[in-house]
Amino acid sequence: MTDYRFGRRVTAMGALLAATAVLAPTAIARPAATPAGNAVNGKKIFVSTACGACHTLKAAGTKSTIGANLDLKKPTFAKVVSILNTGKGSMQSYKALLSASQIKDVATFISTAKH
Ligand code: HEC
Repeated sequence: MTDYRFGRRVTAMGALLAATAVLAPTAIARPAATPAGNAVNGKKIFVSTACGACHTLKAAGTKSTIGANLDLKKPTFAKVVSILNTGKGSMQSYKALLSASQIKDVATFISTAKH
């Protein structure tokens, strides 16, 4: 009986934590939600940083299938900024390689690119 109640509490906590995890990135990304960078410069950075070694993005003329297809995923500005800062799965963080303004430029290029 006691175990059952404890189990329910743990489940409720888990749900709460999961909800927090889903909401948190949105809350953090909100201030930088508008593509405010320089897309032309962002394209140069996309090419020179070799994002295309792993990603397909028509606007940059790249066709690799190692990482997500950015023409299909169409990530938002906020999502690109977030992933470049933190990394994801087998993709490293670019925080040490690119400045905050370069990250903004790449995110602007990707999120406003024609697919
Ligand atoms: C070594 C390969 C590799 C390189 C280089 C790389 N990525 Fe990635 N990227 C990945 C992989 C793999 C994922 C998928 C991660 C996952 O979902 O687990 C990913 C995911 C992403 C996503 C998320 C797509 C989505 O909407 O789910 C974005 C945006 C992205 N990369 C942008 C970039 C940019 C910009 C660069 C260059 C600065 C870059 N990547 C360089 C492998 C790479």
